[in-house]
Amino acid sequence: MNFQGRKIALIGGAGFIGHHLALACRNQGAEVSVIDSLSINSLTSFIASPAEESHRSRSIQMIQERLRLLERSQISLHTVDARDAKILVRTLELIKPDTILFLAGISHAERANKDPRAAFEHGLVTLENTLDYSQRGLAHFVYFSSSMVYGDFPEGGATEDTPCKPVGVYGVLKLAGEKFVKARHESEGLPYTIIRPSALYGERCVSRRVGQVFIESALMGNPVSIKGSGEDRLDFTYIEDLIQGTLLVLSQPRAKNEIFNLTYGESRSIADLAETLKVYFPKTEIQYGPKDFLMPKRGTLHIEKAKSLLGYFPRYPLEVGFQKYIRWYQL
Ligand SMILES: NC(=O)c1ccc[n+]([C@@H]2O[C@H](COP(=O)([O-])OP(=O)(O)OC[C@H]3O[C@@H](n4cnc5c(N)ncnc54)[C@H](O)[C@@H]3O)[C@@H](O)[C@H]2O)c1
Repeated sequence: MNFQGRKIALIGGAGFIGHHLALACRNQGAEVSVIDSLSINSLTSFIASPAEESHRSRSIQMIQERLRLLERSQISLHTVDARDAKILVRTLELIKPDTILFLAGISHAERANKDPRAAFEHGLVTLENTLDYSQRGLAHFVYFSSSMVYGDFPEGGATEDTPCKPVGVYGVLKLAGEKFVKARHESEGLPYTIIRPSALYGERCVSRRVGQVFIESALMGNPVSIKGSGEDRLDFTYIEDLIQGTLLVLSQPRAKNEIFNLTYGESRSIADLAETLKVYFPKTEIQYGPKDFLMPKRGTLHIEKAKSLLGYFPRYPLEVGFQKYIRWYQL
């Protein structure tokens, strides 16, 4: 892939997915700019957070490392709150991107469900502000949605054509975001792609999703706590697979005006994840607690569409990706 001559802006680009993606686009030769407030699941929120000290300082270190990597790759960082339409548009006018990747929001379902207003403002108001700019002849708008738009997965898993029946604020907002993007395509011809990732894990994630919590608990010699019976299944996806898929989306015209599931493509149980962890931390004790009732029943996201249309080929089954992730912690 050669992205020479392209100008890519990432809204929410200092986050977990965003910074990996910004670095990958830069590696392909694009001029890359990140717009991020650094305030949600990021520096200022952790600095102000009452979280346990070890978690707080580890998260701050990881985010500082992201920022160092961005700087070293000559990616410009604009510390801007995308809720502020005027400042956002002024910044985009300065950057003049041909492609926008939209990742901002409260990316954690539990947190979004607890604070619907903040989730609405950071996920949808920011989106609307970005779309207002994007009507000016943008070549490609990529929206990061979520597998949570499906709600309870049907037996056998979800394809992009599975009807969306989200449960809880997070899934509803993600689906609303998709509809906002599509509406701009219908009314203004905005070329878009919607990506539905799920259960990501990998280096420098501070979101405290299950994989991160498991590893950090094991490293500290604490028991690992599973919500529910351990039989719940997720399509665990290593960050490098999502990055590969997104680069394909950015490089192929046939990705435009389409929706793609971009995951590993095979669900695994939380108990499987715990077993994988035990290979490296055999003494770790597993405990079981109550399940979050707003979490839908999930499973496999079928990725045949991305495979056949884009040539997407995920390379990291859980055992391989998780081992890489654990090694990174141990370095
Ligand atoms: N990580 C996953 O497993 C996963 C799965 C499915 C979907 N997604 C979606 O992908 C997107 C990115 O996820 P992530 O894991 O990188 O999340 P993240 O929390 O690491 O990153 C989100 C970034 O958005 C920024 N942001 C939030 N509000 C902002 C605002 N008002 N102005 C400017 N910046 C703002 C934050 O500072 C943060 O850096 C999210 O929309 C999320 O819903 C993530």
